[in-house]
Amino acid sequence: MKAFRISRYLLFTGVCLLVMFNHGLLAAENALNSFPERIVLNITQTPHNSQAITWKTRETSTYPRVQVIRAAELLNPESTSKIFSARTTAVDLDKKTTAYHHSVVLGSLEPNTLYAYRVGDDSCWSEWNQFRTASNISEPFTFLYFGDIQEQVHSMCSQIFRVALQTHPESKFWLFAGDMVNNGPDDMEWEKFFNALGWIPRTVPFVLLPGNHEYPDRRFILPKDYHITNLWRPHFTLPENGPKGLEETVFSFDYQGVCFIMLNGNEQIETQAGWLEKILSHNKQPWIIVAIHQPVYSISKRRNRTQFQEILVPIFDQFSVDLVLQGHDHGYCRTFPLKNHLQVPDGKKGTVYVISNAGPKFYPPSSRYDHLMAKTGSREMLFQSVRVDKNTLHYTTRTVTNKVYDTFEIHK
Ligand SMILES: [Fe+2]
Repeated sequence: MKAFRISRYLLFTGVCLLVMFNHGLLAAENALNSFPERIVLNITQTPHNSQAITWKTRETSTYPRVQVIRAAELLNPESTSKIFSARTTAVDLDKKTTAYHHSVVLGSLEPNTLYAYRVGDDSCWSEWNQFRTASNISEPFTFLYFGDIQEQVHSMCSQIFRVALQTHPESKFWLFAGDMVNNGPDDMEWEKFFNALGWIPRTVPFVLLPGNHEYPDRRFILPKDYHITNLWRPHFTLPENGPKGLEETVFSFDYQGVCFIMLNGNEQIETQAGWLEKILSHNKQPWIIVAIHQPVYSISKRRNRTQFQEILVPIFDQFSVDLVLQGHDHGYCRTFPLKNHLQVPDGKKGTVYVISNAGPKFYPPSSRYDHLMAKTGSREMLFQSVRVDKNTLHYTTRTVTNKVYDTFEIHK
């Protein structure tokens, strides 16, 4: 009888422990599902007084929001923070899985001010992170530019991001010229992209434009189905001042004396050309930098997109665009300053076109436009720093082992 009582006691204790263990597991899983992931600072049209923030949770959130405060006041118990409510987009990843993407644009911020922020809801908050708004006047600054990442994003490209951050912790934002992943509609590829980046996009604003790999492959679909991946807009909240239907893939913003223009080389280039002319005819910034994924003067043996030369170059020439940042060809090149498809004489104003590549996928460069090139190369994972001050633009390309690969200056 005594043995029976002991066994009953042990059985009861076992059941209790199992229930408690399961409850703990469930609580842990719930916490994980509402934990903010893929937090990104996105550039806005007015980076001196606003900041867009996006993040993802695996479960729906009751009151997703951002809490923001001047960083210097975070530890002061008497200071008050502001709350900004988020807009949520649910994205079905497959029949069983839905992702919840949250988006906030913080407005009425002070220029050149360090802020602390966190994202989350009642059940779970991120850590506090920091960002600094742009200055509202022309002031020297540095930004980084990355060509295609696309393949071995997690295993190999993590290196280039870490070397870039260690070399240029002062960079104000990072600009990605498309093909951040190989298959844009595959959420696992974006998971690897964000894993490779770690906490960097939480504290450095990102500027992104789509490459062809953020679109479906034209060879396998009908023209009516050719749209940017439905993961693009939920992941990023970018300026909406582009042509109708191309918002957040075509946009412009001013940053401390530079007019930046992001173009979408995948579709409706004539529409973009009209928009570009309008933006540039109203531009008041002394420097103009354009980015587009597909290059104007291709260095790929299999490609030569002369349509961009016919449509875009006359506008770049008319408005004296200083620099065009491109990707797509999985190699490196930098042209001499060009006008009307020719090298300009020494001392004359022209546009410099560069193509770069961040990841480990390489194509051999073609010699088609060698007469326009100051440098060509391939088989290097690269990143670029661009420092702009009042009279000079300083451009440096570095390898993944942090060796200077190319450098030049443009003078006003
Ligand atoms: Fe591409």
